[in-house]
Amino acid sequence: MPPRMTLPVIELKPDSRPIPAEQREEVLASPGFGHHFTDHMVTITWTEDAGWHFARLVPYGPLPIDPANLTLHYSQTVFEGLKVFRGPDGNLGAFRPEENARRFQASARRMAMPELPEKTFLAACEALVAQDRAWVPSRPGHSLYLRPFMFATESGLGVRAAREFLFVVIASPTDGYFAGEVRPVSVWVAEEYVRAAPGGTGAAKTGANYAASLMGQAQAAAQGCDQVVWLDALERRWVEEMGAMNLFFVYGERIVTPELTGSLLPGITRASLLTLARDLGYKAEEARVSLQDWRRDSADGSLTEVFACGTAAGVVPVGSVKTALAQWTVGDGRPGEVTMRLRETLRQIQSGAAADPHGWMREMAGADHTAPGRQAARS
Ligand code: PLP
Ligand code: COI
Repeated sequence: MPPRMTLPVIELKPDSRPIPAEQREEVLASPGFGHHFTDHMVTITWTEDAGWHFARLVPYGPLPIDPANLTLHYSQTVFEGLKVFRGPDGNLGAFRPEENARRFQASARRMAMPELPEKTFLAACEALVAQDRAWVPSRPGHSLYLRPFMFATESGLGVRAAREFLFVVIASPTDGYFAGEVRPVSVWVAEEYVRAAPGGTGAAKTGANYAASLMGQAQAAAQGCDQVVWLDALERRWVEEMGAMNLFFVYGERIVTPELTGSLLPGITRASLLTLARDLGYKAEEARVSLQDWRRDSADGSLTEVFACGTAAGVVPVGSVKTALAQWTVGDGRPGEVTMRLRETLRQIQSGAAADPHGWMREMAGADHTAPGRQAARS
């Protein structure tokens, strides 16, 4: 379903009783991940007849759901995750939100859902950040995590694409998915369950992929490991992802990340690190990496570091690996130099502490797309 050309203007209906500043500051002191939400949300409706319309910024709150809502039964839903950082001059910058907008469209296409125009996605994020700007943390490493999502709002039990959807953006302050000191994670390699198969939905950010991953993650925990690593569904040989993060393998000056075969999520952090690694003079490439390579190259020392990456957690070292038959350490099990260098380089661009050579940071609260009657969000 191609995007319509007329974009809705976001109508402002702000909360008359937002959370008091003192309470907000208490939350911002130690927000965790995904526990607290800001005062507002943006909602935009899509119907087959009218396209995208009725865009509003309203107080954060429950959405009415009919028991026969199609999403509850058949999971026609997609989401995104992106972060807004407070820079040194108080400016608010989102990291590569255009990429999230495009991936949101790609996920929607795969799930037979309407595509939200990129400009509307960005305008909705900006409207929410502008309204709830006081919620953007200023502590180092903290940020405002935006969670745009879309789901079928139509009711019915017939298995088919819905004709009505709601797009919503909510926001949650965070100090990171694995907050605190950098601690290498231990991983369990799932050989029983798979996350995604060729022709399936692994490259789409859709809820069912995450539901399908929970048993593998539970097995990892039962094995005393922090995270699950997914292998390809056909041969159970090629390494794909770690939990909800992409993986990188460091061979000295050469850095390899599993290639996008269609069953991996094309991570924006992954793409950014490929670029930054090349900027720093590493040879960064996309290729297939087998579990066997991982074990052998760890043993002979040629594989010096492994790390995972994603928006929520940033860059996280992988310290040890466990399978049903074997167990091994990566490098010396401690955060590696290349991992930490890439992690810092990315963090500094995001926080505004370093130059942004690729123009990845987008000013968020500057433009006014929202005032009633304004046409700024129209193309
Ligand atoms: N892989 C999966 C399955 C994810 O859910 C995510 C998170 O969005 C990632 C990888 C990392 O993607 P990104 O760097 O765009 O956050
Ligand atoms: C990410 O943003 O890195 C994620 O993996 C999101 C996750 C909480 C589903």
